[in-house]
Amino acid sequence: MSETTAPWWKSATAYQIYPRSFCDSNGDGIGDIPGIISKLDYLAELGVGFIWLSPVYRSPMADNGYDISDYQDIAPEFGTLDDFDRLLAEARQRGIRIVMDLVVNHSSDEHPWFIESRASREADKRDFYIWRDPAEDGGPPNDLQSFFGGPAWTFDASTGQYYLHLFDRKQPDLNWDNPALRSEIWRMMNWWLDRGVGGFRMDVIDLIGKDIDRGITADGPRLHEYLQEMHRETLAGRDIVTVGEAWSATPENALLYSGRDSRELSMVFQFEHVSQQWDEKLGKWKPRPFDLVALKRTLNKWQSALAQDGWNSLFWGNHDLPRAVSKYGDDTHYRVESAKMLATVLHLMKGTPYIYQGEEFGMTNAAFTDIDQFKDVETLNFYRLQVADGVAPEDFIAGANENSRDNARTPVQWSDAPGAGFTTGEPWIDINPNYTDINAEQARRDPASIYAHYRHLAQLRKDLPLIVDGEYRPWLEAHPQILAYSRHLDGQTLSVVANVGSTPLQLDVPPGLQVRGQALIGNYGARAQIGAVLDLAPYEAFAILS
Ligand code: NOJ
Repeated sequence: MSETTAPWWKSATAYQIYPRSFCDSNGDGIGDIPGIISKLDYLAELGVGFIWLSPVYRSPMADNGYDISDYQDIAPEFGTLDDFDRLLAEARQRGIRIVMDLVVNHSSDEHPWFIESRASREADKRDFYIWRDPAEDGGPPNDLQSFFGGPAWTFDASTGQYYLHLFDRKQPDLNWDNPALRSEIWRMMNWWLDRGVGGFRMDVIDLIGKDIDRGITADGPRLHEYLQEMHRETLAGRDIVTVGEAWSATPENALLYSGRDSRELSMVFQFEHVSQQWDEKLGKWKPRPFDLVALKRTLNKWQSALAQDGWNSLFWGNHDLPRAVSKYGDDTHYRVESAKMLATVLHLMKGTPYIYQGEEFGMTNAAFTDIDQFKDVETLNFYRLQVADGVAPEDFIAGANENSRDNARTPVQWSDAPGAGFTTGEPWIDINPNYTDINAEQARRDPASIYAHYRHLAQLRKDLPLIVDGEYRPWLEAHPQILAYSRHLDGQTLSVVANVGSTPLQLDVPPGLQVRGQALIGNYGARAQIGAVLDLAPYEAFAILS
Protein backbone atom coordinates (compact mmCIF):
# COMPACT_ATOMS: atom_id res chain seq x y z
CA MET A 1 0.00 0.00 0.00
CA SER A 2 1.41 3.40 -0.81
CA GLU A 3 1.50 5.56 2.28
CA THR A 4 -0.69 8.61 1.92
CA THR A 5 0.21 9.68 5.42
CA ALA A 6 3.99 9.50 4.94
CA PRO A 7 5.70 12.38 6.71
CA TRP A 8 6.73 15.30 4.49
CA TRP A 9 10.42 14.67 4.98
CA LYS A 10 10.25 11.32 3.21
CA SER A 11 9.43 12.92 -0.13
CA ALA A 12 11.56 16.02 0.45
CA THR A 13 15.00 16.67 -0.95
CA ALA A 14 17.28 18.19 1.69
CA TYR A 15 20.03 20.73 1.12
CA GLN A 16 22.89 21.48 3.49
CA ILE A 17 24.19 25.01 3.90
CA TYR A 18 27.57 25.65 5.50
CA PRO A 19 26.94 29.34 6.16
CA ARG A 20 30.51 30.54 6.26
CA SER A 21 31.02 29.46 2.65
CA PHE A 22 27.58 29.92 1.15
CA CYS A 23 26.98 33.56 0.24
CA ASP A 24 28.43 36.77 1.66
CA SER A 25 26.10 39.77 1.51
CA ASN A 26 28.30 42.41 3.15
CA GLY A 27 31.74 41.91 1.65
CA ASP A 28 33.53 40.71 4.81
CA GLY A 29 34.54 37.48 3.06
CA ILE A 30 32.28 35.33 5.28
CA GLY A 31 28.90 33.98 4.21
CA ASP A 32 25.90 35.19 6.21
CA ILE A 33 22.16 34.85 6.74
CA PRO A 34 21.12 37.71 4.41
CA GLY A 35 23.26 35.93 1.80
CA ILE A 36 21.26 32.75 2.36
CA ILE A 37 17.99 34.66 2.04
CA SER A 38 19.16 36.04 -1.31
CA LYS A 39 19.51 32.47 -2.61
CA LEU A 40 16.17 31.07 -1.45
CA ASP A 41 14.63 31.44 -4.90
CA TYR A 42 17.48 29.40 -6.31
CA LEU A 43 16.87 26.67 -3.71
CA ALA A 44 13.12 26.72 -4.30
CA GLU A 45 13.72 26.33 -8.02
CA LEU A 46 15.99 23.38 -7.29
CA GLY A 47 13.09 21.76 -5.44
CA VAL A 48 14.52 21.75 -1.93
CA GLY A 49 12.10 20.80 0.87
CA PHE A 50 14.30 21.56 3.85
CA ILE A 51 17.63 23.14 4.59
CA TRP A 52 20.03 21.69 7.14
CA LEU A 53 21.74 24.82 8.31
CA SER A 54 25.17 24.20 9.82
CA PRO A 55 25.64 26.21 13.05
CA VAL A 56 24.90 29.94 12.96
CA TYR A 57 25.01 30.44 16.74
CA ARG A 58 27.36 32.80 18.51
CA SER A 59 30.78 31.17 18.55
CA PRO A 60 34.49 31.95 18.70
CA MET A 61 34.68 29.81 15.52
CA ALA A 62 37.49 27.49 16.60
CA ASP A 63 35.61 24.85 14.60
CA ASN A 64 33.58 27.19 12.38
CA GLY A 65 30.57 27.29 14.67
CA TYR A 66 30.65 23.73 16.02
CA ASP A 67 31.87 25.40 19.21
CA ILE A 68 28.93 27.38 20.54
CA SER A 69 29.23 30.10 23.15
CA ASP A 70 25.55 31.11 23.14
CA TYR A 71 22.87 28.66 22.02
CA GLN A 72 20.24 31.36 21.77
CA ASP A 73 21.94 33.98 19.69
CA ILE A 74 23.36 34.32 16.18
CA ALA A 75 27.07 34.88 15.47
CA PRO A 76 27.50 38.54 14.50
CA GLU A 77 29.42 37.58 11.35
CA PHE A 78 26.34 35.65 10.22
CA GLY A 79 23.73 38.26 11.19
CA THR A 80 21.16 38.75 13.93
CA LEU A 81 18.17 36.94 15.37
CA ASP A 82 16.00 39.25 13.26
CA ASP A 83 17.83 38.06 10.16
CA PHE A 84 17.23 34.51 11.29
CA ASP A 85 13.50 35.10 11.78
CA ARG A 86 13.37 36.64 8.34
CA LEU A 87 15.12 33.58 6.93
CA LEU A 88 12.52 31.33 8.57
CA ALA A 89 9.63 33.38 7.20
CA GLU A 90 11.05 33.79 3.69
CA ALA A 91 11.88 30.09 3.50
CA ARG A 92 8.42 29.12 4.75
CA GLN A 93 6.84 31.25 2.02
CA ARG A 94 8.69 29.11 -0.50
CA GLY A 95 7.74 25.84 1.16
CA ILE A 96 11.20 25.32 2.63
CA ARG A 97 11.81 24.40 6.27
CA ILE A 98 14.95 25.32 8.19
CA VAL A 99 16.56 22.55 10.22
CA MET A 100 19.03 23.75 12.84
CA ASP A 101 22.29 22.09 13.72
CA LEU A 102 22.14 21.04 17.37
CA VAL A 103 25.66 20.82 18.79
CA VAL A 104 25.22 19.59 22.34
CA ASN A 105 27.87 16.94 22.87
CA HIS A 106 30.10 19.89 23.67
CA SER A 107 30.01 23.66 23.85
CA SER A 108 32.69 26.27 23.37
CA ASP A 109 35.12 26.85 26.22
CA GLU A 110 33.87 30.44 25.97
CA HIS A 111 30.29 29.45 26.86
CA PRO A 112 29.29 31.02 30.22
CA TRP A 113 28.57 27.51 31.52
CA PHE A 114 32.17 26.48 31.00
CA ILE A 115 33.55 29.74 32.31
CA GLU A 116 31.57 29.15 35.49
CA SER A 117 32.41 25.45 35.56
CA ARG A 118 36.15 26.02 35.42
CA ALA A 119 36.03 28.82 38.03
CA SER A 120 36.24 26.43 40.99
CA ARG A 121 35.62 22.83 41.98
CA GLU A 122 32.62 23.99 43.99
CA ALA A 123 31.04 26.04 41.21
CA ASP A 124 27.36 25.49 40.61
CA LYS A 125 27.98 24.51 37.02
CA ARG A 126 31.15 22.47 37.71
CA ASP A 127 29.24 19.34 36.89
CA PHE A 128 27.96 20.64 33.52
CA TYR A 129 31.28 19.37 32.11
CA ILE A 130 33.43 16.29 32.64
CA TRP A 131 36.28 16.87 35.10
CA ARG A 132 38.64 14.23 36.43
CA ASP A 133 41.70 14.17 38.69
CA PRO A 134 45.09 13.62 37.07
CA ALA A 135 46.48 10.10 36.92
CA GLU A 136 49.04 9.20 39.58
CA ASP A 137 51.89 10.49 37.44
CA GLY A 138 50.04 13.79 36.99
CA GLY A 139 49.16 12.96 33.39
CA PRO A 140 45.68 12.69 31.83
CA PRO A 141 43.17 10.45 33.67
CA ASN A 142 43.19 7.92 30.81
CA ASP A 143 44.49 7.65 27.27
CA LEU A 144 41.37 8.71 25.39
CA GLN A 145 42.32 10.51 22.19
CA SER A 146 40.57 13.47 20.63
CA PHE A 147 39.03 12.97 17.18
CA PHE A 148 41.10 15.97 16.16
CA GLY A 149 44.36 14.34 17.30
CA GLY A 150 46.20 14.31 20.62
CA PRO A 151 44.83 13.62 24.11
CA ALA A 152 41.13 14.20 24.80
CA TRP A 153 42.02 15.79 28.15
CA THR A 154 43.33 19.26 28.92
CA PHE A 155 44.69 20.23 32.31
CA ASP A 156 43.22 23.23 34.06
CA ALA A 157 45.92 24.48 36.42
CA SER A 158 43.73 26.71 38.54
CA THR A 159 41.51 23.85 39.77
CA GLY A 160 44.01 21.03 39.33
CA GLN A 161 41.81 18.79 37.21
CA TYR A 162 41.52 17.72 33.58
CA TYR A 163 38.44 18.38 31.44
CA LEU A 164 37.33 16.13 28.61
CA HIS A 165 37.12 17.28 24.99
CA LEU A 166 36.55 14.63 22.36
CA PHE A 167 37.21 17.33 19.75
CA ASP A 168 39.36 20.45 20.07
CA ARG A 169 40.41 21.72 23.50
CA LYS A 170 38.12 24.66 22.81
CA GLN A 171 35.17 22.22 22.65
CA PRO A 172 34.72 20.82 26.19
CA ASP A 173 32.28 17.90 26.41
CA LEU A 174 29.05 18.54 28.26
CA ASN A 175 28.13 16.16 31.06
CA TRP A 176 24.86 14.59 29.96
CA ASP A 177 24.62 12.60 33.17
CA ASN A 178 23.68 15.83 34.89
CA PRO A 179 19.87 16.29 34.79
CA ALA A 180 20.22 20.07 35.24
CA LEU A 181 22.29 20.25 32.03
CA ARG A 182 19.72 18.17 30.19
CA SER A 183 16.86 20.44 31.23
CA GLU A 184 18.82 23.47 29.99
CA ILE A 185 19.15 21.74 26.64
CA TRP A 186 15.45 20.85 26.45
CA ARG A 187 14.56 24.45 27.25
CA MET A 188 16.83 25.74 24.52
CA MET A 189 15.53 23.24 21.95
CA ASN A 190 11.92 24.16 22.70
CA TRP A 191 12.82 27.83 22.32
CA TRP A 192 14.00 27.18 18.74
CA LEU A 193 11.12 24.87 17.94
CA ASP A 194 8.61 27.43 19.20
CA ARG A 195 10.31 29.96 16.95
CA GLY A 196 9.37 27.78 13.99
CA VAL A 197 12.40 25.75 13.01
CA GLY A 198 11.67 22.54 11.09
CA GLY A 199 13.76 20.26 13.27
CA PHE A 200 17.35 19.45 14.13
CA ARG A 201 20.40 17.78 12.69
CA MET A 202 22.15 16.53 15.80
CA ASP A 203 25.91 16.77 15.85
CA VAL A 204 27.78 13.59 16.94
CA ILE A 205 24.70 12.62 18.88
CA ASP A 206 25.92 9.05 19.40
CA LEU A 207 28.50 10.42 21.86
CA ILE A 208 26.10 11.79 24.47
CA GLY A 209 25.59 8.57 26.46
CA LYS A 210 29.30 8.01 27.03
CA ASP A 211 30.89 6.22 29.97
CA ILE A 212 34.28 7.88 30.09
CA ASP A 213 35.68 5.92 33.01
CA ARG A 214 35.17 2.70 31.08
CA GLY A 215 36.59 4.30 27.94
CA ILE A 216 33.23 4.21 26.11
CA THR A 217 32.55 7.24 23.93
CA ALA A 218 30.26 6.36 21.00
CA ASP A 219 27.06 4.35 21.46
CA GLY A 220 27.34 4.50 25.23
CA PRO A 221 25.07 2.91 27.82
CA ARG A 222 22.77 5.92 28.33
CA LEU A 223 22.51 7.12 24.71
CA HIS A 224 19.00 5.88 23.97
CA GLU A 225 17.70 6.81 27.38
CA TYR A 226 18.74 10.42 26.73
CA LEU A 227 17.35 10.47 23.21
CA GLN A 228 14.02 9.19 24.47
CA GLU A 229 13.97 11.81 27.18
CA MET A 230 14.77 14.44 24.54
CA HIS A 231 11.88 13.18 22.44
CA ARG A 232 9.46 13.35 25.36
CA GLU A 233 10.62 16.79 26.46
CA THR A 234 10.98 18.54 23.12
CA LEU A 235 10.19 16.69 19.88
CA ALA A 236 7.01 14.73 20.59
CA GLY A 237 3.88 15.99 18.88
CA ARG A 238 5.70 18.39 16.58
CA ASP A 239 5.72 18.10 12.80
CA ILE A 240 9.49 18.21 12.41
CA VAL A 241 12.39 16.18 11.08
CA THR A 242 15.37 15.04 13.11
CA VAL A 243 18.55 13.48 11.85
CA GLY A 244 21.29 12.32 14.17
CA GLU A 245 24.91 12.26 13.13
CA ALA A 246 26.03 8.80 14.27
CA TRP A 247 29.41 7.60 13.05
CA SER A 248 28.97 4.48 15.17
CA ALA A 249 25.58 3.55 13.74
CA THR A 250 25.35 0.06 12.29
CA PRO A 251 22.53 -1.56 10.34
CA GLU A 252 21.87 -3.54 13.53
CA ASN A 253 21.46 -0.57 15.88
CA ALA A 254 20.01 1.99 13.44
CA LEU A 255 16.45 0.95 14.27
CA LEU A 256 16.99 1.89 17.89
CA TYR A 257 17.16 5.49 16.74
CA SER A 258 14.61 5.58 13.95
CA GLY A 259 12.42 2.49 14.24
CA ARG A 260 8.68 3.14 14.35
CA ASP A 261 8.46 2.48 18.09
CA SER A 262 11.75 4.03 19.11
CA ARG A 263 10.49 7.55 19.90
CA GLU A 264 13.88 9.06 19.15
CA LEU A 265 14.77 10.42 15.69
CA SER A 266 13.47 10.45 12.12
CA MET A 267 16.75 9.06 10.78
CA VAL A 268 20.49 8.99 11.32
CA PHE A 269 23.46 9.82 9.16
CA GLN A 270 25.60 6.71 9.06
CA PHE A 271 29.08 6.91 7.55
CA GLU A 272 30.00 3.38 6.63
CA HIS A 273 29.78 4.05 2.88
CA VAL A 274 31.96 7.17 2.97
CA SER A 275 34.70 5.98 5.32
CA GLN A 276 35.63 2.59 3.97
CA GLN A 277 38.51 3.89 1.90
CA TRP A 278 40.66 5.06 4.78
CA ASP A 279 44.05 3.72 5.78
CA GLU A 280 44.15 1.69 8.99
CA LYS A 281 47.03 3.66 10.45
CA LEU A 282 46.94 7.11 8.85
CA GLY A 283 43.16 7.24 8.46
CA LYS A 284 41.63 9.52 5.89
CA TRP A 285 44.94 11.31 5.30
CA LYS A 286 46.06 8.30 3.29
CA PRO A 287 43.11 7.27 1.15
CA ARG A 288 42.93 3.87 -0.50
CA PRO A 289 41.58 3.27 -4.01
CA PHE A 290 37.84 3.30 -4.60
CA ASP A 291 36.24 -0.15 -4.42
CA LEU A 292 32.80 -0.18 -6.02
CA VAL A 293 31.88 -3.69 -4.90
CA ALA A 294 32.55 -2.81 -1.26
CA LEU A 295 30.60 0.44 -1.63
CA LYS A 296 27.60 -1.40 -3.09
CA ARG A 297 27.76 -3.99 -0.34
CA THR A 298 27.44 -1.21 2.23
CA LEU A 299 24.70 0.71 0.43
CA ASN A 300 22.71 -2.47 -0.16
CA LYS A 301 23.12 -3.57 3.43
CA TRP A 302 21.68 -0.29 4.69
CA GLN A 303 18.84 -0.36 2.18
CA SER A 304 17.86 -3.82 3.29
CA ALA A 305 18.32 -3.17 7.03
CA LEU A 306 15.84 -0.29 6.93
CA ALA A 307 13.52 -1.78 4.33
CA GLN A 308 10.51 -2.32 6.59
CA ASP A 309 11.15 0.06 9.42
CA GLY A 310 13.36 3.05 10.11
CA TRP A 311 14.51 5.41 7.39
CA ASN A 312 17.77 6.03 5.54
CA SER A 313 19.49 9.32 4.91
CA LEU A 314 21.19 9.39 1.51
CA PHE A 315 24.31 11.44 0.94
CA TRP A 316 27.69 11.45 -0.75
CA GLY A 317 29.10 14.55 0.87
CA ASN A 318 28.84 17.17 3.58
CA HIS A 319 31.07 19.82 5.14
CA ASP A 320 33.31 17.14 6.68
CA LEU A 321 33.79 15.09 3.52
CA PRO A 322 35.42 15.62 0.14
CA ARG A 323 33.45 16.70 -2.90
CA ALA A 324 31.43 13.78 -4.24
CA VAL A 325 32.38 14.15 -7.89
CA SER A 326 36.07 14.24 -7.00
CA LYS A 327 35.84 11.26 -4.69
CA TYR A 328 33.55 8.87 -6.53
CA GLY A 329 33.44 10.28 -10.05
CA ASP A 330 35.92 11.80 -12.49
CA ASP A 331 36.17 15.55 -11.96
CA THR A 332 38.53 16.02 -14.91
CA HIS A 333 37.29 14.15 -17.97
CA TYR A 334 33.71 13.26 -17.07
CA ARG A 335 32.74 15.80 -14.45
CA VAL A 336 29.23 16.43 -15.74
CA GLU A 337 28.49 12.81 -16.61
CA SER A 338 29.82 11.36 -13.38
CA ALA A 339 28.16 13.97 -11.16
CA LYS A 340 24.81 13.20 -12.77
CA MET A 341 25.45 9.47 -12.41
CA LEU A 342 26.14 9.85 -8.69
CA ALA A 343 23.02 11.93 -8.19
CA THR A 344 20.86 9.46 -10.10
CA VAL A 345 21.91 6.37 -8.18
CA LEU A 346 21.66 8.09 -4.80
CA HIS A 347 18.40 10.00 -5.19
CA LEU A 348 16.45 7.02 -6.51
CA MET A 349 17.30 4.87 -3.49
CA LYS A 350 14.95 4.62 -0.53
CA GLY A 351 15.57 7.40 1.99
CA THR A 352 15.85 11.18 2.17
CA PRO A 353 18.57 12.58 -0.12
CA TYR A 354 20.81 15.41 1.08
CA ILE A 355 22.57 17.73 -1.36
CA TYR A 356 25.65 19.49 -0.03
CA GLN A 357 25.98 23.09 -1.24
CA GLY A 358 27.62 23.28 -4.65
CA GLU A 359 27.19 19.57 -5.32
CA GLU A 360 24.15 20.42 -7.46
CA PHE A 361 26.38 21.95 -10.11
CA GLY A 362 29.41 19.74 -9.64
CA MET A 363 31.87 21.67 -7.48
CA THR A 364 35.18 19.84 -7.09
CA ASN A 365 37.84 19.36 -4.42
CA ALA A 366 40.32 22.14 -3.80
CA ALA A 367 43.88 21.61 -5.00
CA PHE A 368 45.86 23.44 -2.34
CA THR A 369 49.65 23.49 -2.58
CA ASP A 370 50.54 25.12 0.70
CA ILE A 371 49.51 24.11 4.22
CA ASP A 372 48.66 27.77 4.91
CA GLN A 373 45.75 27.51 2.50
CA PHE A 374 44.07 24.99 4.80
CA LYS A 375 41.90 26.50 7.54
CA ASP A 376 40.34 23.47 9.18
CA VAL A 377 41.33 22.78 12.79
CA GLU A 378 41.28 19.01 12.23
CA THR A 379 43.51 19.20 9.15
CA LEU A 380 45.98 21.53 10.81
CA ASN A 381 46.16 19.43 13.99
CA PHE A 382 46.84 16.24 12.05
CA TYR A 383 49.36 17.98 9.84
CA ARG A 384 51.36 18.89 12.93
CA LEU A 385 51.06 15.42 14.44
CA GLN A 386 51.78 13.41 11.31
CA VAL A 387 54.65 15.59 10.12
CA ALA A 388 56.19 15.32 13.60
CA ASP A 389 55.78 11.57 13.17
CA GLY A 390 57.76 11.49 9.95
CA VAL A 391 55.12 11.92 7.23
CA ALA A 392 56.46 14.18 4.45
CA PRO A 393 54.56 17.49 4.34
CA GLU A 394 53.83 17.08 0.60
CA ASP A 395 52.42 13.59 1.20
CA PHE A 396 50.15 14.93 3.89
CA ILE A 397 48.99 17.74 1.61
CA ALA A 398 48.32 15.23 -1.19
CA GLY A 399 46.12 13.22 1.21
CA ALA A 400 44.44 16.37 2.50
CA ASN A 401 43.64 17.40 -1.06
CA GLU A 402 41.69 14.17 -1.33
CA ASN A 403 40.00 14.03 2.04
CA SER A 404 40.43 17.21 4.07
CA ARG A 405 37.25 18.90 5.23
CA ASP A 406 38.38 22.10 3.53
CA ASN A 407 37.62 20.53 0.14
CA ALA A 408 33.95 21.03 0.84
CA ARG A 409 34.43 24.41 2.47
CA THR A 410 35.74 26.51 -0.41
CA PRO A 411 33.12 29.15 -1.21
CA VAL A 412 30.11 28.34 -3.34
CA GLN A 413 30.83 29.40 -6.91
CA TRP A 414 27.80 31.44 -7.87
CA SER A 415 29.17 33.05 -11.03
CA ASP A 416 32.33 33.78 -12.99
CA ALA A 417 32.55 37.30 -11.51
CA PRO A 418 35.57 38.14 -9.34
CA GLY A 419 35.02 36.52 -5.94
CA ALA A 420 32.88 33.90 -7.73
CA GLY A 421 29.77 35.88 -6.83
CA PHE A 422 30.38 34.65 -3.26
CA THR A 423 31.95 37.84 -1.97
CA THR A 424 33.09 41.26 -3.06
CA GLY A 425 35.77 41.13 -0.37
CA GLU A 426 38.62 38.84 0.58
CA PRO A 427 37.20 35.31 1.09
CA TRP A 428 38.04 33.60 4.40
CA ILE A 429 39.37 30.60 2.46
CA ASP A 430 40.61 30.46 -1.13
CA ILE A 431 38.04 30.16 -3.88
CA ASN A 432 38.60 27.24 -6.22
CA PRO A 433 40.05 28.85 -9.38
CA ASN A 434 37.80 26.69 -11.55
CA TYR A 435 34.87 28.99 -10.70
CA THR A 436 35.19 30.65 -14.10
CA ASP A 437 33.93 27.40 -15.69
CA ILE A 438 32.05 25.75 -12.84
CA ASN A 439 29.42 28.02 -11.34
CA ALA A 440 25.73 28.13 -10.52
CA GLU A 441 24.88 30.87 -13.01
CA GLN A 442 26.22 28.85 -15.92
CA ALA A 443 24.53 25.68 -14.65
CA ARG A 444 21.19 27.39 -14.23
CA ARG A 445 21.24 28.60 -17.83
CA ASP A 446 22.11 25.21 -19.30
CA PRO A 447 19.19 22.76 -19.62
CA ALA A 448 21.67 19.87 -19.79
CA SER A 449 23.53 20.87 -16.62
CA ILE A 450 24.11 18.90 -13.44
CA TYR A 451 21.83 21.42 -11.74
CA ALA A 452 18.98 20.65 -14.18
CA HIS A 453 19.52 16.96 -13.44
CA TYR A 454 19.23 17.45 -9.67
CA ARG A 455 16.14 19.55 -10.20
CA HIS A 456 14.61 16.78 -12.23
CA LEU A 457 15.40 14.22 -9.52
CA ALA A 458 13.81 16.38 -6.80
CA GLN A 459 10.69 16.71 -8.94
CA LEU A 460 10.50 12.95 -9.62
CA ARG A 461 10.65 12.31 -5.87
CA LYS A 462 7.64 14.58 -5.37
CA ASP A 463 5.70 12.99 -8.24
CA LEU A 464 6.36 9.29 -7.79
CA PRO A 465 5.44 7.51 -4.53
CA LEU A 466 7.48 4.60 -5.84
CA ILE A 467 10.69 6.57 -5.23
CA VAL A 468 9.66 7.22 -1.66
CA ASP A 469 8.14 3.91 -0.69
CA GLY A 470 9.13 1.30 -3.25
CA GLU A 471 10.88 -1.85 -2.14
CA TYR A 472 14.59 -1.91 -3.06
CA ARG A 473 16.28 -4.82 -4.85
CA PRO A 474 19.97 -4.83 -5.71
CA TRP A 475 21.27 -6.30 -8.97
CA LEU A 476 24.73 -7.35 -10.18
CA GLU A 477 26.20 -7.03 -6.70
CA ALA A 478 29.59 -8.50 -7.64
CA HIS A 479 30.04 -6.50 -10.85
CA PRO A 480 33.14 -4.27 -10.52
CA GLN A 481 31.80 -1.41 -12.64
CA ILE A 482 28.00 -1.52 -12.56
CA LEU A 483 25.67 -0.23 -9.89
CA ALA A 484 22.12 -1.41 -10.55
CA TYR A 485 18.95 -1.79 -8.56
CA SER A 486 15.22 -1.81 -8.96
CA ARG A 487 12.37 -0.37 -6.89
CA HIS A 488 8.89 -1.88 -6.68
CA LEU A 489 5.51 -0.58 -5.59
CA ASP A 490 1.92 -1.40 -6.50
CA GLY A 491 2.90 -3.31 -9.65
CA GLN A 492 5.25 -0.57 -10.86
CA THR A 493 8.99 -1.09 -11.30
CA LEU A 494 11.76 1.44 -11.47
CA SER A 495 15.02 0.09 -12.91
CA VAL A 496 18.23 2.00 -12.34
CA VAL A 497 21.51 1.13 -14.06
CA ALA A 498 24.81 2.98 -13.86
CA ASN A 499 28.27 2.52 -15.28
CA VAL A 500 30.54 3.65 -12.46
CA GLY A 501 33.65 3.98 -14.56
CA SER A 502 35.37 6.07 -17.20
CA THR A 503 35.44 3.30 -19.81
CA PRO A 504 32.51 2.26 -21.98
CA LEU A 505 31.07 -1.10 -21.06
CA GLN A 506 29.05 -3.84 -22.68
CA LEU A 507 26.86 -5.55 -20.15
CA ASP A 508 25.08 -8.90 -20.38
CA VAL A 509 21.88 -8.01 -18.61
CA PRO A 510 20.29 -10.59 -16.31
CA PRO A 511 16.81 -11.55 -17.58
CA GLY A 512 14.99 -10.13 -14.55
CA LEU A 513 16.36 -6.68 -15.24
CA GLN A 514 15.32 -6.57 -18.89
CA VAL A 515 12.44 -4.13 -19.16
CA ARG A 516 10.67 -1.86 -21.58
CA GLY A 517 8.90 1.21 -20.23
CA GLN A 518 9.02 4.93 -19.79
CA ALA A 519 12.38 6.70 -19.90
CA LEU A 520 12.52 8.60 -16.65
CA ILE A 521 15.94 10.18 -16.46
CA GLY A 522 19.39 9.63 -17.94
CA ASN A 523 22.65 11.47 -18.40
CA TYR A 524 23.13 10.51 -22.07
CA GLY A 525 19.58 11.06 -23.23
CA ALA A 526 16.58 8.83 -22.78
CA ARG A 527 16.46 5.05 -22.67
CA ALA A 528 13.14 3.29 -22.55
CA GLN A 529 14.33 -0.25 -22.73
CA ILE A 530 16.92 -2.59 -21.27
CA GLY A 531 17.62 -5.46 -23.65
CA ALA A 532 19.79 -8.54 -23.21
CA VAL A 533 22.94 -6.60 -24.03
CA LEU A 534 23.52 -3.04 -22.92
CA ASP A 535 26.20 -0.73 -24.30
CA LEU A 536 26.96 1.86 -21.68
CA ALA A 537 28.93 5.06 -22.17
CA PRO A 538 31.41 6.24 -19.51
CA TYR A 539 29.50 7.04 -16.31
CA GLU A 540 26.19 6.52 -18.05
CA ALA A 541 23.24 6.21 -15.68
CA PHE A 542 19.54 6.00 -16.41
CA ALA A 543 16.22 4.95 -14.93
CA ILE A 544 13.21 3.36 -16.60
CA LEU A 545 9.70 3.10 -15.18
CA SER A 546 7.70 0.04 -16.20
C1 NOJ B 1 30.67 16.83 13.46
C2 NOJ B 1 30.60 18.05 12.61
O1 NOJ B 1 29.97 17.72 11.40
C3 NOJ B 1 32.01 18.55 12.44
O2 NOJ B 1 32.13 19.55 11.48
C4 NOJ B 1 32.49 19.01 13.81
O3 NOJ B 1 33.85 19.38 13.72
C5 NOJ B 1 32.35 17.90 14.84
N1 NOJ B 1 31.12 17.22 14.77
C6 NOJ B 1 32.46 18.48 16.22
O4 NOJ B 1 31.34 19.28 16.47
